[in-house]
Amino acid sequence: MQRIPLIAGNWKMHTSLAEARNLAAAVVSVCKGLTDREVMIAPPFTALATVAEVVRGSGVRLAAQNICWEEQGAFTGEIAPGMLRELGCDMAIIGHSERRHIFGESDALVNQRMAGAMRFGITPIFCFGETLAEREGGQTMAVLERQIRAGLADIAVVDPTRLVLAYEPVWAIGTGKTASDHQAQEAHEFVRNLLLEMYEKSIARQIRILYGGSVNSGNVDALLRQPDIDGALVGGAALKVDSFERIIHFRQ
Ligand code: PGA
Repeated sequence: MQRIPLIAGNWKMHTSLAEARNLAAAVVSVCKGLTDREVMIAPPFTALATVAEVVRGSGVRLAAQNICWEEQGAFTGEIAPGMLRELGCDMAIIGHSERRHIFGESDALVNQRMAGAMRFGITPIFCFGETLAEREGGQTMAVLERQIRAGLADIAVVDPTRLVLAYEPVWAIGTGKTASDHQAQEAHEFVRNLLLEMYEKSIARQIRILYGGSVNSGNVDALLRQPDIDGALVGGAALKVDSFERIIHFRQ
């Protein structure tokens, strides 16, 4: 079984309701007839309900940008898995570097979110990646291993299509500096081997690993040509339909 490439747009804290509706409609229209790849968009929470209506029945998948592990209760500022499911949203970005670095989310907290998502049938896009100082200090693989082993601790995977990983070097996010194809593939291969240690081999081989960090219409083809890169998590370039369309239509 082949891994189906996934192109995921992370809108972060952008878009008014009207902008979200228009952008989602444009994404739906450029995705018509696509069968060999999946497309997902993650609008801000405020636009999820609106975008859900636009993407319904189109095949474009909807994700939240974070998720709580509890069903309900006194968790001010958090969104429960059931609230997302009610909207037809069955994916969530977890452990994004902005959550980790700006909002102080630890590996342990990220693991809690992962467990919650899996328990309630939400497919996580589990993000991890090294900082520039860590890369320059030769610690990249050690950092990735720590984040992955901690983030996926006690997470059982039965259906490999229900867990997505995203390698996002912190120094490449929103900076215009992309990891070279070689740097990205090296990290992805390392992650794949780690998954092979952690999970049954047939499962580990099927788990998709996306690359994220300044992916754009110019670099997407070369990145996605790498054997262990199974898609892209796209920030800035997902906010404009022209660039996102070109990324969706990457050529391998
Ligand atoms: P970027 O963001 O494409 O703007 O670098 C990627 C991400 O943060 O997911």
